[in-house]
Amino acid sequence: MSGARNVRGGLALLALSLAGGLAMSLYAFEPLVEPPPALDRYDDLPRRLLRLAHVAAVMLPLLNVLLGPVIGRVRLPATSREWTSWLLLVGAAGLPAALVLEALFPAAASWHPSGVPAIAFALGTALLAVGAWRTPGAELLTASAAGRAA
Ligand code: HEM
Repeated sequence: MSGARNVRGGLALLALSLAGGLAMSLYAFEPLVEPPPALDRYDDLPRRLLRLAHVAAVMLPLLNVLLGPVIGRVRLPATSREWTSWLLLVGAAGLPAALVLEALFPAAASWHPSGVPAIAFALGTALLAVGAWRTPGAELLTASAAGRAA
């Protein structure tokens, strides 16, 4: 069922993101480790990008867990449901990773790697919205409609 991978993947990514938050707390407040100069000051761009990666790594997986069950209920062709599922998951994994890349390798920021996963996640959400608007309310809200044939 399409949405199951979003719930599983979302929870795995969420656990990873909290581990990332714990790693940030080693240098963020009373530093336990000496951070590299680029992470020294709170509003240095690499540090801001790491914070943004952290927030994206929490919220986008949470949205996967929330939206995963809905993917199987909406009236979309099976292929579109599969695309929706993968766009949301790839976006949730790819955006934090791309932001960390831009933070650690400032030269990479010039080709904007975070753009692609951000667009992927937005497309996945738009596809799901189209499906939701094509689906009667009762079907959208009841779990029993899961696994709907195309
Ligand atoms: C184990 C759980 C978490 C840990 C250890 C953690 C750790 C951190 C640390 C160390 C910072 C500061 C980084 C810096 O100063 O550059 C931070 C910032 C932030 N975290 Fe988390 N975090 C956790 C969970 C969450 C959750 C669930 C959210 C919800 C979205 C969240 C949202 C944020 C936001 C918005 C910021 C930026 C705040 C600001 O601008 O100062 N964090 N986190």
